[in-house]
Amino acid sequence: MKTSRRAIQKMSKLLFRESGNNFLDYSFYKLKVFLHVQSRMMFEKDFRLHKEDKALLLVLYCYFIQDHNAGAIIGLDINKGLLISGPVGCGKTTLMNLMPKSTRHKIKYEMIPTRNIVNNFNEVGFKVLEKYKDTKDYCFDDLGLEPTGCHNTKNCNVMEEILLSRYDLFKTKNVKTYITTNLNVEELEARYGSQFTSSLDEMFNHVRFKVDSVDKRKLG
Ligand SMILES: Nc1ncnc2c1ncn2[C@@H]1O[C@H](COP(=O)(O)OP(=O)(O)O)[C@@H](O)[C@H]1O
Ligand SMILES: [Mg+2]
Repeated sequence: MKTSRRAIQKMSKLLFRESGNNFLDYSFYKLKVFLHVQSRMMFEKDFRLHKEDKALLLVLYCYFIQDHNAGAIIGLDINKGLLISGPVGCGKTTLMNLMPKSTRHKIKYEMIPTRNIVNNFNEVGFKVLEKYKDTKDYCFDDLGLEPTGCHNTKNCNVMEEILLSRYDLFKTKNVKTYITTNLNVEELEARYGSQFTSSLDEMFNHVRFKVDSVDKRKLG
Protein backbone atom coordinates (compact mmCIF):
# COMPACT_ATOMS: atom_id res chain seq x y z
CA MET A 1 0.00 0.00 0.00
CA LYS A 2 1.27 3.47 -0.90
CA THR A 3 1.46 5.71 2.14
CA SER A 4 3.83 8.28 0.68
CA ARG A 5 3.23 11.91 1.59
CA ARG A 6 1.94 12.68 -1.94
CA ALA A 7 -0.50 9.78 -2.02
CA ILE A 8 -1.84 10.68 1.42
CA GLN A 9 -2.14 14.36 0.42
CA LYS A 10 -4.06 13.43 -2.69
CA MET A 11 -6.33 11.15 -0.76
CA SER A 12 -6.96 13.64 2.06
CA LYS A 13 -8.05 16.20 -0.52
CA LEU A 14 -10.75 13.77 -1.58
CA LEU A 15 -11.69 12.92 1.97
CA PHE A 16 -11.81 16.46 3.26
CA ARG A 17 -14.47 17.53 0.83
CA GLU A 18 -17.84 18.05 2.46
CA SER A 19 -20.69 16.37 0.71
CA GLY A 20 -24.18 17.59 1.57
CA ASN A 21 -26.07 15.54 4.11
CA ASN A 22 -23.50 12.76 3.96
CA PHE A 23 -21.22 14.99 5.98
CA LEU A 24 -20.18 12.46 8.63
CA ASP A 25 -18.77 10.16 5.98
CA TYR A 26 -16.74 12.90 4.36
CA SER A 27 -15.50 15.07 7.17
CA PHE A 28 -12.26 14.22 8.89
CA TYR A 29 -12.99 16.96 11.41
CA LYS A 30 -16.29 15.28 12.34
CA LEU A 31 -14.53 11.94 12.54
CA LYS A 32 -12.19 13.41 15.15
CA VAL A 33 -15.12 14.77 17.16
CA PHE A 34 -16.87 11.43 16.81
CA LEU A 35 -13.83 9.46 18.04
CA HIS A 36 -13.54 11.80 20.98
CA VAL A 37 -17.18 11.39 22.02
CA GLN A 38 -17.31 7.65 21.32
CA SER A 39 -14.09 7.04 23.21
CA ARG A 40 -15.54 8.90 26.22
CA MET A 41 -18.67 6.77 26.08
CA MET A 42 -16.95 3.42 25.57
CA PHE A 43 -13.76 3.77 27.57
CA GLU A 44 -14.36 6.91 29.67
CA LYS A 45 -11.24 8.22 28.04
CA ASP A 46 -10.48 11.17 25.77
CA PHE A 47 -9.30 10.13 22.33
CA ARG A 48 -6.30 12.13 21.26
CA LEU A 49 -5.22 12.34 17.64
CA HIS A 50 -1.46 12.01 17.62
CA LYS A 51 0.21 13.77 14.73
CA GLU A 52 2.21 10.71 13.71
CA ASP A 53 -0.99 8.63 13.48
CA LYS A 54 -2.85 11.01 11.18
CA ALA A 55 -1.90 9.31 7.91
CA LEU A 56 -2.84 5.94 9.34
CA LEU A 57 -6.18 7.24 10.58
CA LEU A 58 -6.89 8.65 7.13
CA VAL A 59 -6.21 5.25 5.61
CA LEU A 60 -8.57 3.58 8.08
CA TYR A 61 -11.17 6.27 7.57
CA CYS A 62 -11.05 5.71 3.84
CA TYR A 63 -11.50 1.98 4.42
CA PHE A 64 -14.38 2.30 6.86
CA ILE A 65 -16.34 4.69 4.69
CA GLN A 66 -15.60 2.27 1.85
CA ASP A 67 -14.35 4.96 -0.47
CA HIS A 68 -13.16 2.91 -3.44
CA ASN A 69 -11.94 5.99 -5.32
CA ALA A 70 -9.74 7.38 -2.58
CA GLY A 71 -8.65 3.84 -1.69
CA ALA A 72 -7.45 3.16 -5.22
CA ILE A 73 -5.03 6.09 -4.97
CA ILE A 74 -3.12 4.44 -2.16
CA GLY A 75 -3.71 0.83 -3.14
CA LEU A 76 -6.26 0.17 -0.41
CA ASP A 77 -8.65 -2.60 -1.46
CA ILE A 78 -12.02 -2.28 0.25
CA ASN A 79 -12.83 -5.88 -0.67
CA LYS A 80 -10.10 -7.22 1.59
CA GLY A 81 -9.89 -7.22 5.37
CA LEU A 82 -7.39 -5.34 7.51
CA LEU A 83 -4.23 -6.47 9.26
CA ILE A 84 -3.27 -3.78 11.74
CA SER A 85 0.19 -4.21 13.17
CA GLY A 86 2.25 -2.15 15.56
CA PRO A 87 3.85 -2.14 18.98
CA VAL A 88 1.97 -2.73 22.23
CA GLY A 89 -0.16 0.22 23.30
CA CYS A 90 -0.10 2.16 20.02
CA GLY A 91 -3.91 2.02 19.77
CA LYS A 92 -4.76 -0.88 17.45
CA THR A 93 -7.53 -2.39 19.57
CA THR A 94 -8.99 1.02 20.38
CA LEU A 95 -9.28 1.98 16.71
CA MET A 96 -10.75 -1.35 15.66
CA ASN A 97 -13.38 -0.89 18.37
CA LEU A 98 -14.17 2.69 17.47
CA MET A 99 -13.94 2.88 13.69
CA PRO A 100 -16.91 0.67 12.70
CA LYS A 101 -19.17 2.87 14.79
CA SER A 102 -18.08 5.99 12.95
CA THR A 103 -19.68 5.06 9.65
CA ARG A 104 -23.26 4.02 10.16
CA HIS A 105 -22.38 0.41 10.71
CA LYS A 106 -21.55 -0.43 7.13
CA ILE A 107 -18.71 -2.60 8.33
CA LYS A 108 -19.49 -4.94 11.19
CA TYR A 109 -17.38 -7.61 12.81
CA GLU A 110 -17.17 -9.42 16.08
CA MET A 111 -14.06 -8.44 17.98
CA ILE A 112 -12.52 -11.33 19.86
CA PRO A 113 -9.14 -11.63 21.60
CA THR A 114 -7.25 -14.66 20.27
CA ARG A 115 -6.48 -15.63 23.85
CA ASN A 116 -10.20 -16.12 24.48
CA ILE A 117 -10.49 -18.34 21.42
CA VAL A 118 -7.67 -20.57 22.63
CA ASN A 119 -9.04 -20.70 26.20
CA ASN A 120 -12.33 -21.73 24.71
CA PHE A 121 -10.59 -24.40 22.61
CA ASN A 122 -8.81 -25.77 25.68
CA GLU A 123 -12.16 -26.25 27.40
CA VAL A 124 -14.39 -27.31 24.54
CA GLY A 125 -12.04 -28.78 21.93
CA PHE A 126 -12.06 -28.89 18.14
CA LYS A 127 -15.70 -27.85 17.94
CA VAL A 128 -14.51 -24.29 18.55
CA LEU A 129 -12.76 -24.23 15.17
CA GLU A 130 -16.13 -24.71 13.48
CA LYS A 131 -17.48 -21.45 14.88
CA TYR A 132 -15.10 -19.42 12.71
CA LYS A 133 -16.07 -21.23 9.54
CA ASP A 134 -19.29 -19.25 9.40
CA THR A 135 -19.77 -16.35 7.04
CA LYS A 136 -19.57 -13.70 9.74
CA ASP A 137 -16.73 -11.20 9.77
CA TYR A 138 -14.38 -11.37 12.77
CA CYS A 139 -11.61 -9.23 14.15
CA PHE A 140 -9.01 -11.40 15.87
CA ASP A 141 -7.50 -9.13 18.46
CA ASP A 142 -3.89 -9.50 19.59
CA LEU A 143 -2.93 -12.30 17.24
CA GLY A 144 0.30 -13.84 18.49
CA LEU A 145 -0.35 -13.31 22.20
CA GLU A 146 -2.36 -16.52 22.56
CA PRO A 147 -0.69 -19.70 23.82
CA THR A 148 -0.73 -22.97 21.86
CA GLY A 149 -4.03 -24.72 22.35
CA CYS A 150 -4.27 -27.98 24.25
CA HIS A 151 -7.41 -30.06 24.61
CA ASN A 152 -7.34 -33.51 26.22
CA THR A 153 -3.51 -33.61 25.86
CA LYS A 154 -3.80 -32.84 22.11
CA ASN A 155 -1.88 -29.74 21.07
CA CYS A 156 -3.19 -27.47 18.35
CA ASN A 157 -2.08 -24.20 16.79
CA VAL A 158 -5.65 -22.96 17.02
CA MET A 159 -5.22 -19.64 15.24
CA GLU A 160 -3.27 -21.20 12.39
CA GLU A 161 -6.17 -23.58 11.77
CA ILE A 162 -8.72 -20.80 12.00
CA LEU A 163 -6.78 -18.44 9.73
CA LEU A 164 -6.45 -21.09 7.04
CA SER A 165 -10.19 -21.68 7.04
CA ARG A 166 -10.78 -17.92 6.99
CA TYR A 167 -8.67 -17.78 3.82
CA ASP A 168 -10.90 -20.39 2.17
CA LEU A 169 -13.97 -18.40 3.21
CA PHE A 170 -12.45 -15.24 1.79
CA LYS A 171 -11.72 -16.95 -1.52
CA THR A 172 -15.07 -18.67 -1.86
CA LYS A 173 -17.47 -16.21 -0.23
CA ASN A 174 -15.49 -12.99 0.19
CA VAL A 175 -15.87 -13.24 3.98
CA LYS A 176 -13.58 -10.72 5.61
CA THR A 177 -11.20 -11.11 8.50
CA TYR A 178 -9.61 -8.36 10.55
CA ILE A 179 -6.54 -8.75 12.70
CA THR A 180 -4.62 -6.71 15.20
CA THR A 181 -1.15 -7.91 16.09
CA ASN A 182 2.15 -6.84 17.63
CA LEU A 183 3.98 -9.22 15.30
CA ASN A 184 5.68 -8.36 12.02
CA VAL A 185 5.37 -10.55 8.92
CA GLU A 186 8.46 -12.68 9.74
CA GLU A 187 7.14 -13.34 13.23
CA LEU A 188 3.70 -14.17 11.85
CA GLU A 189 5.31 -16.66 9.48
CA ALA A 190 7.29 -18.31 12.29
CA ARG A 191 4.08 -18.66 14.29
CA TYR A 192 1.47 -19.52 11.66
CA GLY A 193 3.45 -20.90 8.74
CA SER A 194 4.21 -19.75 5.22
CA GLN A 195 0.83 -20.84 3.91
CA PHE A 196 -0.77 -18.14 6.02
CA THR A 197 1.76 -15.41 5.25
CA SER A 198 1.63 -16.11 1.53
CA SER A 199 -2.09 -15.32 1.66
CA LEU A 200 -1.60 -12.05 3.54
CA ASP A 201 -1.48 -9.72 0.52
CA GLU A 202 -4.47 -11.37 -1.02
CA MET A 203 -6.61 -11.28 2.07
CA PHE A 204 -5.59 -8.13 3.91
CA ASN A 205 -4.65 -4.51 3.57
CA HIS A 206 -1.64 -4.32 5.84
CA VAL A 207 -1.76 -1.13 7.89
CA ARG A 208 1.30 -0.60 10.06
CA PHE A 209 1.78 1.71 13.00
CA LYS A 210 5.39 2.89 13.12
CA VAL A 211 7.61 0.63 15.22
CA ASP A 212 8.48 3.60 17.44
CA SER A 213 4.83 4.67 17.93
CA VAL A 214 4.17 5.97 21.43
CA ASP A 215 2.65 3.64 23.97
CA LYS A 216 -0.61 5.46 24.72
CA ARG A 217 -1.04 3.56 27.96
CA LYS A 218 1.82 5.64 29.35
CA LEU A 219 0.17 8.96 28.53
CA GLY A 220 -1.99 10.68 31.12
N1 LIG B 1 -5.69 7.99 20.42
C1 LIG B 1 -5.74 7.68 21.72
N2 LIG B 1 -5.98 8.67 22.63
C2 LIG B 1 -6.03 8.36 23.94
N3 LIG B 1 -5.85 7.13 24.46
C3 LIG B 1 -5.60 6.12 23.61
C4 LIG B 1 -5.54 6.33 22.19
N4 LIG B 1 -5.28 5.16 21.58
C5 LIG B 1 -5.19 4.25 22.58
N5 LIG B 1 -5.37 4.83 23.79
C6 LIG B 1 -5.31 4.15 25.08
O1 LIG B 1 -4.03 3.52 25.17
C7 LIG B 1 -4.16 2.21 25.72
C8 LIG B 1 -3.61 1.19 24.72
O2 LIG B 1 -4.42 1.18 23.55
P1 LIG B 1 -4.75 -0.17 22.78
O3 LIG B 1 -5.72 0.17 21.74
O4 LIG B 1 -5.13 -1.24 23.77
O5 LIG B 1 -3.33 -0.52 22.15
P2 LIG B 1 -2.87 -1.83 21.36
O6 LIG B 1 -4.09 -2.61 21.03
O7 LIG B 1 -2.15 -1.30 20.17
O8 LIG B 1 -1.92 -2.57 22.27
C9 LIG B 1 -5.63 2.03 26.06
O9 LIG B 1 -5.80 2.30 27.43
C10 LIG B 1 -6.34 3.05 25.21
O10 LIG B 1 -7.52 3.51 25.83
MG1 LIG C 1 -4.54 -4.61 21.54
